Amino acid sequence: MPKIEPIPFPPLAADLKSFIEGLPKAELHLHIEGTLEPELLFALAQRNQVKLAYATIEELRAAYAFTDLQSFLDLYYAGAAVLLTEQDFYEMTAAYIVHCRADNVRHAEIFFDPQTHTERGIGIEVVFAGIARALREARQAHGFSSAMIMSFLRHLSEEDAFTTLEAALPLREQYQDLWIGIGLDSAEQGNPPEKFAKVFARCAQLGFRLVAHAGEEGPPEYVRNALDVLHVERIDHGVRSEEDPILMERLAKQRTPLTVCPLSNLKLCVVSHLGDHNLARLLHAGLAVTINSDDPAYFGGYMNANYLAVAESLQLNRAELIKLTRNSFEASFLPTIEKQRLLEELDGYCSAHQTH
Ligand code: HPA
Ligand code: ZN
Repeated sequence: MPKIEPIPFPPLAADLKSFIEGLPKAELHLHIEGTLEPELLFALAQRNQVKLAYATIEELRAAYAFTDLQSFLDLYYAGAAVLLTEQDFYEMTAAYIVHCRADNVRHAEIFFDPQTHTERGIGIEVVFAGIARALREARQAHGFSSAMIMSFLRHLSEEDAFTTLEAALPLREQYQDLWIGIGLDSAEQGNPPEKFAKVFARCAQLGFRLVAHAGEEGPPEYVRNALDVLHVERIDHGVRSEEDPILMERLAKQRTPLTVCPLSNLKLCVVSHLGDHNLARLLHAGLAVTINSDDPAYFGGYMNANYLAVAESLQLNRAELIKLTRNSFEASFLPTIEKQRLLEELDGYCSAHQTH
């Protein structure tokens, strides 16, 4: 069968493009290890004398042709092996913040996977310290707002997640200005939410905000169980919820946020073409959809690249784009007063950019 190519979309009008680029926005689904660009990855490998399977940056980039989530995770975990010191985590995070500032990201809630590093003998305190130093510096220097969400790897056991939690808890006070939540990521299929029921119950008891990846490759049942068993407040991805009309009604009614990642879904073959993405349908069904970049170094773009790609391929209008950014602030874990401040900034931006 010949491959069916999508019909090309008309390019975005220049004024809509600059409107999107300037929109104040929040990022709620971002794996800091997924921001490690090949250039920094190579530089860190050299500095730390870590041997890579690729001879050049170009060779590495060429390997970023994924067929599913697992094919990406294999490279993502291999890439993270160059991170050894506090300075490495700091530089990776500082580089991400540069992109946030360029894309008018006002607030970011950042996932990090300590198990990826503790497994290699890196102390969990090294991971926290490097990420937090960059986030605090950006807050001081530019008023950049952020939070950290420690994520458990679901391909590992619940016992392993408990061990990670125990190792991290002594750091809680030191990072109380940043570490607000717990997430669940890695290989979804065959690792359902209920595998982590006990550790999430413990995290809830400890007062953490809870999120989980669900319904990226896994079925709608995983989304339901993330809500009913893990009691998460937001669903990361959640695009397969559309297969279950009752779940869709519930998500709309409860306004459970979905942190959707369009370029990620494209690169990991969750959708074949961006024009097939259900983001606009989810939005029109009344769900609290947000746009996010997931692992931007691997998936071809940061926040504005994701916004621009869907605006073009789904022909989104200004009202829809404003709604998506409004959702990003409303779905954040910021205190109400901070949310209001950012929503006012968004309103100000929109009134200043009215077209008549
Ligand atoms: N899904 C699951 N785990 C991940 C992802 C993702 O998109 N990115 C990094 N870890
Ligand atoms: Zn993710």
